Amino acid sequence: MVDKDRELTEEEKEQIEATRRRVMLANRINERMGAIKHKIIIASGKGGVGKSSFAVNLAKVLAAHKRKVGFLDGDIHGPSADKFFGIKEPQLSGEAESINPQVTEDGIRVMSMAFLLGEADSAVIWRGPLKMQMIDSLLGDVNWGELDYLVIDTPPGTGDEILSLAQRIKNLDGIVMITTPQSAAVASAVKTISFAKSMKTLLIGVVENMGPFRCPDCGREIKLFGAGGGEQAAKSYGVPFLGSIPFDELMEGDSEAGLAVVVEHPHAPSAVQINRIAEKIMGLVER
Ligand SMILES: Nc1ncnc2c1ncn2[C@@H]1O[C@H](COP(=O)(O)OP(=O)(O)OP(=O)(O)O)[C@@H](O)[C@H]1O
Ligand SMILES: [Mg+2]
Repeated sequence: MVDKDRELTEEEKEQIEATRRRVMLANRINERMGAIKHKIIIASGKGGVGKSSFAVNLAKVLAAHKRKVGFLDGDIHGPSADKFFGIKEPQLSGEAESINPQVTEDGIRVMSMAFLLGEADSAVIWRGPLKMQMIDSLLGDVNWGELDYLVIDTPPGTGDEILSLAQRIKNLDGIVMITTPQSAAVASAVKTISFAKSMKTLLIGVVENMGPFRCPDCGREIKLFGAGGGEQAAKSYGVPFLGSIPFDELMEGDSEAGLAVVVEHPHAPSAVQINRIAEKIMGLVER
């Protein structure tokens, strides 16, 4: 028989407290995500295909269209929102369970592990459960406020972070898949498409990045990484193809300088395509 009158042990008290905190955090996540109209995850199968630079440019286009935008850097190991938004000295305020995000000049509310860890700490090895806790905290402990969009950048592949995000965010609009045109990248992109299907998460569409571009000197089309891979992947899986962003030195230079090509060089070939793609995404999720 269980002795109902006995004192709880310290361990039991801790367990109850931990459960209480988890439930409170889960409630906070639902509340905060409920105040955001559209939540979009940017993902890729392979690393270095331009997820983060696309995500930042997408956020900028949405803000230029007068949408209230948040940006969650879901890359716990290798956060990059500080670099791509050019945020050198983040000024976070608020309290532990109610942290105010960094706000950019154009009003985008940005949160990244890069703001929470000093450089010295950035080599921390995050185990799976801890990464999931960090994702929960980024969703539930940040004062996102009422937003039209939350753009969520992720690390490559289908690891703990994206799993956690897809599980936790109710009413997620879906995933935008980024791939470069060559077959190896497309093959790993297809894995993410299968992942989305298995999670019953909608795939908003596929974006090809670093696609063919015109040589500025001779005008010839250069297919640095091939062509058409993104469109093929989209077609074979019956999901929308959102467009191909050409390889563009201006996009690279602006990203490296913490600027967005859509703002700095709106007529650059990459910027024109990103604008079109962003408008397509708005059309798809807002309809
Ligand atoms: N269309 C493009 N043309 C030229 N350079 C690009 C283009 N898109 C992205 N880049 C550059 O490619 C590099 C990798 O981009 P980025 O960091 O956005 O990729 P990622 O997929 O987020 O990488 P990771 O998987 O490491 O998170 C950056 O230097 C970026 O400026
Ligand atoms: Mg990245």
